[in-house]
Amino acid sequence: MQPLIAPSLLSANFGNLDSDLEMINNSSADWLHLDIMDGVFVPNISFGFPVLNSVRKKVKKPLDVHLMIVKPENYIESFRDAGASVLTIHYEAVDHLHSAITQIRSLGMKAGVSLNPHTPVILLEEILPYLDMVLIMSVNPGFGGQAFIEGSYQKIRKLKILIAETGSSAKIQVDGGVNLGNAPLLVKAGADILVAGNTVFNSPDPQETISALKNCHKTIT
Ligand code: DX5
Ligand code: ZN
Repeated sequence: MQPLIAPSLLSANFGNLDSDLEMINNSSADWLHLDIMDGVFVPNISFGFPVLNSVRKKVKKPLDVHLMIVKPENYIESFRDAGASVLTIHYEAVDHLHSAITQIRSLGMKAGVSLNPHTPVILLEEILPYLDMVLIMSVNPGFGGQAFIEGSYQKIRKLKILIAETGSSAKIQVDGGVNLGNAPLLVKAGADILVAGNTVFNSPDPQETISALKNCHKTIT
């Protein structure tokens, strides 16, 4: 199945964001992925509401916001107001997951839950029917440009089975180290949405790379 592609703004040129946002608008990207890091949940700080508010005015694609922050439940409404269409929170960062997911959905956003590489998918068994998306981190969160963790394929396959068993319609997103080599294997394993930062923004022709990622399923044998 053809995957959705969500380029990650973290690898864009923040000195000339307008040109990268225009590239996204003119590309076949489905969503724009925005990584919010607080320096507490992850060892890095990215950007926040002022950047989001400015990006939303220029980008025509849905904003896919990935919160790598502690207590994400305190900011759900603020991210809706900042233009998020999809809001993903980390399993490891929230106390009352069901309550936070319910709030995200009641505010009209798609709700996602992200798992760090060490967190088993079985922990989502009861919550899966309430989710629109599960984000499998295929690197340790915090930085772009890291190497893909190979064990992620098996995790995606396990999650796909669990989604079917629980009658969930959640989509599977993969984030971290995605490139043109592993993309077809990820789709084959069950990924529906691929996030790509370094692979897109540091390629000679980012629009062409987005389109190659989007068509990677055609190379699956
Ligand atoms: C990492 C972020 C990713 C990151 C991906 O913590 O969640 O979205 O931007 O970057 P690449 O594709 O370069 O690994
Ligand atoms: Zn991300």
